[in-house]
Amino acid sequence: MAPPPSPLAFIPFVSVENMMRLVHHFGIEAVLRELTDAIEADYLRWSRFEKAPRLASHSQEGVIELMPTSDGDAYAFKYVNGHPSNTAKGLQTVAAFGLLARVDTGYPLLLTEMTLLTALRTAATSAMVARRLAAADARVMAMIGNGAQAEFQAIAMKAIVGIEEVRLYDIDPAATRKAARNLEGSGIKVVACETSQDAIEGAQIITTCTADKAYATILSDNMVGSGIHINAIGGDCPGKTELHRDILDRATTFVEFEPQTRIEGEIQQMDASYPVTEFWKVLSGEVEGRTDPRQITLFDSVGFAIEDFSALRYLLGKLEGTEFFQQLDIIADPDDPRDLFGMLQRAA
Ligand SMILES: NC(=O)c1ccc[n+]([C@@H]2O[C@H](COP(=O)([O-])OP(=O)(O)OC[C@H]3O[C@@H](n4cnc5c(N)ncnc54)[C@H](O)[C@@H]3O)[C@@H](O)[C@H]2O)c1
Repeated sequence: MAPPPSPLAFIPFVSVENMMRLVHHFGIEAVLRELTDAIEADYLRWSRFEKAPRLASHSQEGVIELMPTSDGDAYAFKYVNGHPSNTAKGLQTVAAFGLLARVDTGYPLLLTEMTLLTALRTAATSAMVARRLAAADARVMAMIGNGAQAEFQAIAMKAIVGIEEVRLYDIDPAATRKAARNLEGSGIKVVACETSQDAIEGAQIITTCTADKAYATILSDNMVGSGIHINAIGGDCPGKTELHRDILDRATTFVEFEPQTRIEGEIQQMDASYPVTEFWKVLSGEVEGRTDPRQITLFDSVGFAIEDFSALRYLLGKLEGTEFFQQLDIIADPDDPRDLFGMLQRAA
């Protein structure tokens, strides 16, 4: 009979069920606000992090990506996919899980679902950027693409940027109906639109959040008036964009980590000399954000590992004193660290 695992074997694990309980316990707007601040705090420590474009494995149907980073004390990675045709099979376009570890021993600190956490951190990142770059009086957002990410984006923009009205459009009216229903009672005025032109009417922020494995034109140049902030999150893979390149010619473009965005973002359409600003420089004061009320600002978002690192560390902090996790014995822990085989043998 094998001895029970020692306490050193156990790592907290947050299941989807516990993630949902945690979000309801603390409240989604509070979680999004705190997550935004956690990501911003890490963006302000930008130079401390190891940074590399994520490792992507492409296939006909989609992509599977590993997103690692470390600040020297903690190490994190996320496993995430992007399969636009998945929803037709009853599967999600984006599903993820991730791990946080200690750098000094290499032992994990946390294993968690990250499908919900990715939606939360993507919305928090969008809001972190919009609160610096969008017009200060922005109250209306167009939301083009009403799938899994949509409601998270809307609620973050309400909680952090002060958006009061969200105008929804999706090529599939069922997605728009779903998002409108889910946002009932959120305190956001929701307008379901039949065209993207209708959705952008009066909006100071346009979020594009569609999934297609193609160079799509979700927004064309004539749709984007002066002063708009575009939060473009759906174009995040080689061969997958949402904006007509003429918009990029008129916009001032901000990115997460330039080497990754050159490969994956809207700017893959432009040549290598197209100017971009890494957003952390706006936070640190090195570069000005919006400099003119008529300027078009574009956040060419693809999702970067530091945002997941921040989300994992934030989550670990929130677990303290709660029951929103299970202990999994992930790490083999023999009495004598060198007697791994003996531990196996004694379990026979
Ligand atoms: N930047 C980031 O950090 C980040 C994070 C998560 C997801 N994403 C990306 O965001 C996109 C959306 O993710 P999701 O999980 O919401 O996907 P989803 O499949 O749940 O929803 C996508 C929606 O877009 C709609 N759509 C497709 N083409 C459209 C068009 N031409 N006009 C209007 N609507 C259209 C679909 O009908 C669907 O409802 C994906 O491409 C995903 O890879 C980016």
